[in-house]
Amino acid sequence: MQEKLKQLHDKIEEAHLGGGAKRIERQNAKGKLTARQRIHFLLDEGSFEEIGMFVTHRCNDFGMENQKIYGDGVVTGYGTIHGRMVYVFAQDFTVFGGSLSETHAEKICKIMDLALQNGVPLIGLNDSGGARIQEGVVSLGGYADIFYRNTRASGVIPQISAIMGPCAGGAVYSPALTDFIYMVENTSYMFITGPNVVKTVTNEDVSSEELGGANTHASKSGVTHFTAPNDMDAIQQIKKLLSYIPQNCEEEAPMLPYTAGNEQRPKLNTIMPPTANMPYDMREVIEEIVDNESFYEVHKDYAENIVVGFSRIGGRSVGIVANQPMVLAGCLDVECSKKGARFVRFCDSFNIPLLVLVDVPGFLPGTDQEWNGIITNGAKLLYAFSEASVPRITVITRKAYGGAYDVMNSKHIGADLNYAWPSAEIAVMGAKGASEIIFRKEIAAAENPTEKLTEKEAEYADKFAHPYRAAARGFIDAVIEPQDTREKLIKAFKMLENKVDNLPKKRHSNMPL
Ligand code: HXC
Repeated sequence: MQEKLKQLHDKIEEAHLGGGAKRIERQNAKGKLTARQRIHFLLDEGSFEEIGMFVTHRCNDFGMENQKIYGDGVVTGYGTIHGRMVYVFAQDFTVFGGSLSETHAEKICKIMDLALQNGVPLIGLNDSGGARIQEGVVSLGGYADIFYRNTRASGVIPQISAIMGPCAGGAVYSPALTDFIYMVENTSYMFITGPNVVKTVTNEDVSSEELGGANTHASKSGVTHFTAPNDMDAIQQIKKLLSYIPQNCEEEAPMLPYTAGNEQRPKLNTIMPPTANMPYDMREVIEEIVDNESFYEVHKDYAENIVVGFSRIGGRSVGIVANQPMVLAGCLDVECSKKGARFVRFCDSFNIPLLVLVDVPGFLPGTDQEWNGIITNGAKLLYAFSEASVPRITVITRKAYGGAYDVMNSKHIGADLNYAWPSAEIAVMGAKGASEIIFRKEIAAAENPTEKLTEKEAEYADKFAHPYRAAARGFIDAVIEPQDTREKLIKAFKMLENKVDNLPKKRHSNMPL
């Protein structure tokens, strides 16, 4: 037995070395952790149980039969994060550049199946040169097997991807099918084709970083939801994200213990600027409303005219969607509608209640918006809210104009509670624009048109630039003092915690994609 145990220990040691000490050194020298180091820091100490350590590839071409490395370039298994179970795979760049072979894919599929069957989140740490070139089509098949499982698991278990090295070709599509992507700055990139192919086809000169680095995808394309300065930070952020999310779609969102205190936030009574055209930072409103420093922003640098993220309110996990008056006056446009819709759908998939903060002057006008499909894309946000069956609360802080009033979780599309601050203006449009249209003839005929416009503007504002018309109709449930917002929300989310709202029976919905 002693001999057999020694044999086992030798094999484990060999597997732990992956592509060898030199390649590990090279990996660390680039500022990157190895697959095993990443798993070590991600999971609770000693909780990792590996599956498939001794798997090797089956390729017999190009001399591969002489290069079999235990694990075949991916470490897979399960463990816990803050005591909660997760399944994880981490590609090992020291083994054939983390490239995906038939068996490498089989290992990932095995834990994906287990994660889905057991209702446990899946975390993928990607660091791979793409399809194993020596294997050809079986490697492509392996990718598709993963894509298929990503899609089947979507909305059932949370799926999180971290890009911690190259990610090219079809390899980008598994992360794209998951719920959230993290990218590490300067050491990771994602693209369909690299700079050389781009140069050949379109004659553009572009670096890997510019084409598909973390900052590009965080600000320009919106492909990544989060960035991190290094591997360790990405790992810490993944743990934080999981703290807001349930294990699967059947579970409630996590609730932290909370002791009630003085919930009044007097700063909110003074946050509104003196005139309606002056911006203020909606993040400051959010910070006052949520539990201390609990706001974790998603897509922070992308489509900044809408702010989305996770938070806790009275210990309860809540998803926030808020217009941002600091950027494009908070108008809805193509990009921010997509960003908002995706976030709302995630929260709705995983029982996370929604808080919507509204200060929106309308949809952004222009040929650019129309030609890029603001109609279809704006409809995504409208659809996502309308479809959401989790508890939904709206607070209108200032403007709620036009179609954007309807879209931003209005009563009419199924919100449960709609509050307004006294500064709210709920109308088809602003008083000036409205007066210029409906009193055009009267203004033109006046002795002093400017004076007439001002007079008519005041008349319109008196009628509509407040929340009381909407409140009279019941479209607003209560007009509240801003400083009481947090207290009202704590009570309201508690009141809504047993909400049941079943959608009509259907195969699946057909949202405007
Ligand atoms: C097999 C690979 C590999 C691959 C890298 N290696 N990519 N082996 N298949 N796809 C091996 C290298 O031979 C090398 O082995 C080791 O990994 C490290 O690679 P280096 O090139 O030395 O590292 P680096 O300089 O950091 O460059 C990394 C890289 C580059 C940018 C990823 O290796 C590269 O461009 N690889 C090819 C990428 C690619 O075209 N993949 C196919 C994409 S198409 P040794 O033994 O020297 O350590 C695709 C289709 C999927 O993925 C479609 C799904 C639908």
